[in-house]
Amino acid sequence: MNLARNIVAEGIGRPAGYHYRTPIFNGISRVAVAPAPSPFTHFTRWVTEAVKQGVAEPNAMVLATASSTGMPSSRIVLLHSFSESGFIFFTDRESRKYWEIAENPKASLLFYWKETQQQIRIEGKLVPLSAESVAARLKEAVESMSAESGDVLYANLCLTEMFNERARQWAKGKNVTSSRWCAFELTPERFEFWEGQANGASDRKFYSRTPAGWNATDKTV
Ligand SMILES: Cc1cc2nc3c(=O)[nH]c(=O)nc-3n(C[C@H](O)[C@H](O)[C@H](O)COP(=O)(O)O)c2cc1C
Repeated sequence: MNLARNIVAEGIGRPAGYHYRTPIFNGISRVAVAPAPSPFTHFTRWVTEAVKQGVAEPNAMVLATASSTGMPSSRIVLLHSFSESGFIFFTDRESRKYWEIAENPKASLLFYWKETQQQIRIEGKLVPLSAESVAARLKEAVESMSAESGDVLYANLCLTEMFNERARQWAKGKNVTSSRWCAFELTPERFEFWEGQANGASDRKFYSRTPAGWNATDKTV
């Protein structure tokens, strides 16, 4: 039996000539319209818009790690929260990713939001959260959700609420305070914000960390 498939010839995926959705700023680059002073502000704006536009799972991201020999692996994890210090996700100590991170604490995160034609790539180093911090966040996730803390960003609240809902579902019948739960914070060194335009072009904005602060550059193709 021949299982070979030609994705392009069979027209699977985007049809030829497909263009991205009409940009909300009337043909002008959304990147250009909304310059952001820092990648965190940029991220916050995009997440906020993604939530408003009904992106299905804006908190689902591809976490890529690599073993000490350089063999890469990737999988989806849920973003728990973010701040200017970094991006937090939860995972299981008895997992491949945990051991890869122990060997090589560098990773990349990737978000793809089909509905808004946006992709965000983030690279950096991982630091484990303390056991107390993990326990407190899990307790909050499983027991209740107070959405009223005014100092928390709207985008962060939405993400955390989505994470908590998943955690509650997952926790049914399981011991969520199990010491297998752990969390990592990725401290970013580099960001790329990509978005498709209606004319088939795409815009990219890069931010890289320098001793003097964030260096931002643009690229339109
Ligand atoms: C939508 C979705 C959300 C997921 N969220 C998480 C998560 O937050 N943490 C996690 O460890 N695994 C999560 N997983 C499972 C991982 O993708 C992966 O299968 C599992 O963690 C084992 O990965 P590893 O063998 O590379 O360690 C999620 C999977 C999907 C499809």
